[in-house]
Amino acid sequence: MTPRRLPHAHGPLAGAFTAPGDKSISHRAVLLALLADGPCRATGWLDCADTQSSLAAARALGAATTHVGDAISVTPASTLPAGPVLVDCGNSGTTARLLMGVLAGLLPAGGPVVTLTGDASLCRRPMARVVDPLRRMGAGLDYAGQDGRLPVVVRGAPLRGVDHELAVASAQVASALLLAGLGAEGRTVVRGAAGARDHTERMLRGLGVPVEAGASGLSVHGPRRLPAFALVVPGDASSAAFFQVAAALVPGSRVESRGQSLNPTRTGALRVLERAGAIVTCEPAGKAADAAAGEPRGNVVVAAGSLRAFTIDAAEMPSLVDEIPALAVLATQCAGRTVISGAAELRVKESDRLALLARNLRRLGAAVDERADGLVIEGPSMLRGGAAEAPLVLETAGDHRIAMAMAVATLCANGETALDDEACVGVSFPGFFGVMDRLLAGGDPTRP
Ligand code: S3P
Repeated sequence: MTPRRLPHAHGPLAGAFTAPGDKSISHRAVLLALLADGPCRATGWLDCADTQSSLAAARALGAATTHVGDAISVTPASTLPAGPVLVDCGNSGTTARLLMGVLAGLLPAGGPVVTLTGDASLCRRPMARVVDPLRRMGAGLDYAGQDGRLPVVVRGAPLRGVDHELAVASAQVASALLLAGLGAEGRTVVRGAAGARDHTERMLRGLGVPVEAGASGLSVHGPRRLPAFALVVPGDASSAAFFQVAAALVPGSRVESRGQSLNPTRTGALRVLERAGAIVTCEPAGKAADAAAGEPRGNVVVAAGSLRAFTIDAAEMPSLVDEIPALAVLATQCAGRTVISGAAELRVKESDRLALLARNLRRLGAAVDERADGLVIEGPSMLRGGAAEAPLVLETAGDHRIAMAMAVATLCANGETALDDEACVGVSFPGFFGVMDRLLAGGDPTRP
């Protein structure tokens, strides 16, 4: 089948959009419910392949779930399934890693044995970063195949609080350890997560669990269960970022993202857009609107400006780690040399994102130098696709964020382009191409 052509921007992008629910918070709404004392609800919940993996995992563990529109409810099982449980985490690293922590603290000794697995991409991703520290707490985790990779088998075992020092500032790992800490005897400390997204901590505090945070790291005391909860999920800053970068790139554009997360651990890309010369205006919503999820939210307007090169280093990486594909695309249109460093983690995301970005952007005609921990991009470059009868087909490796970044890059490319897999955007943003079409039509009323 010939892949569908990616759209061109014949004029500016204009209009407002509501970013889909935050993926990280949507996962947590499901996974924390497994530790709660009663039915839990979330609205504004993101319905995508990744979060469906968390919902299916909850069901496999005996929870009753409902899902209507953007609302879900998860009622944890009063008794866990008696026999072995197989959980397919699909493409979702957040499901696999957070669930290991949840299960380590939840499963009773002698209870069901749970095997976590995933798709080919997830089974290549590193799991020792979660398995090793959980084992130090006493968790019964074993690799069923290759060491360090899924499938991982979890057996209930008594946990004790441990002082952890993270090798990577990963919110997934910090969250897994804090959630396991709720089922552990004593104090669990997590150091080295500074700057990583803090949704788990915010949710726990909102549920009355003191999570201490300071120079000595994050800590929780266990054992304890969570009360039932209801929360409202803000719009995902990482999804909004694709259209914000598109607006920065296409002259004359102005787009407004409504109700998105303004959590400072998630808005690094907005700060970079501003440094690069885009015009960024944030309008935080009132405090009352934040209350439910303990998450700041608001509207963000991004308009095109005159673009200059920027630098991103390790210190800033956690606040924009998922936005690097979009920001690398931005760099191709900025005047000067953009240097992105401290980004080695991108090699172990859904794909090796540094390699794929370098390959695809070079094929489009950008000047990209791939480094072990980042990219150096000289701009601006005129991007070029293929001929009408032979579009340039860009490689996604099934990685949703690479697919969406390429769809932004090619808005201004000469010639025809397509993706080898456009369905993979459904991993985090099933309505991506619909929003793109509306914003393109908003600036070009002649567009159908
Ligand atoms: C996530 C944390 C980040 C991010 C991922 C979601 C989370 O991963 O890349 O998409 O929900 O905690 P790391 O924690 O591994 O950096």
